[in-house]
Amino acid sequence: MTVRPILQVGDPRLRRVARPVPVEALGGPPIQQLIDDLIETMHAAHGAGIAAPQIGEGLRIFVVHVRDNPRYPYKPPVPLTVFVNPQLTILPEADGRYASAEIYEGCLSVPGLRGRVRRALRVRGAALDRHGAPFTFEAQGLTAGTLQHELAHLDGRLFLDELVDSRSLTTWENFDLFHKAAFLREAEAINARFPSGALTRSP
Ligand code: NI
Repeated sequence: MTVRPILQVGDPRLRRVARPVPVEALGGPPIQQLIDDLIETMHAAHGAGIAAPQIGEGLRIFVVHVRDNPRYPYKPPVPLTVFVNPQLTILPEADGRYASAEIYEGCLSVPGLRGRVRRALRVRGAALDRHGAPFTFEAQGLTAGTLQHELAHLDGRLFLDELVDSRSLTTWENFDLFHKAAFLREAEAINARFPSGALTRSP
């Protein structure tokens, strides 16, 4: 496993639509090595997730892992999960409405900055695991936002493209100084509304 350099905003490779992974290639050493590198690189950078284009590989793979994350202390825990060729659908609430919220996001490819984006709070999806076995999943609350952020990387998009207002951009230092307290209250409200905020997957 190797910690790989993370591409930074401005690198055109972050802006390309990634290719699906051919299922027959998934079991082979190059893809398995890539997945190990993604996990290692995410952990080394304290990311909540990372997508293959962020290390220069234009393939539809991302990984997510949240546990006691110093960058995102308010995020509910998510077990380490590898998503290959993921699909995502936004789910309505019982009343037929689509729940969403503004969330401050950051990105390992956008160093030093955070900003507010609007994310759906309930999603369902399907993907292959690292061995090619299909699984389905549901995610709620902040975890749903994390998955939308990672999926966007596979389509060449960054959270910067989806800011609700460019004036919400802030350095991490100024986030802590001016915005963190209010956002922690918003995040707690989201966590309380979706207490099973973690990813549930089957099988
Ligand atoms: Ni990102």
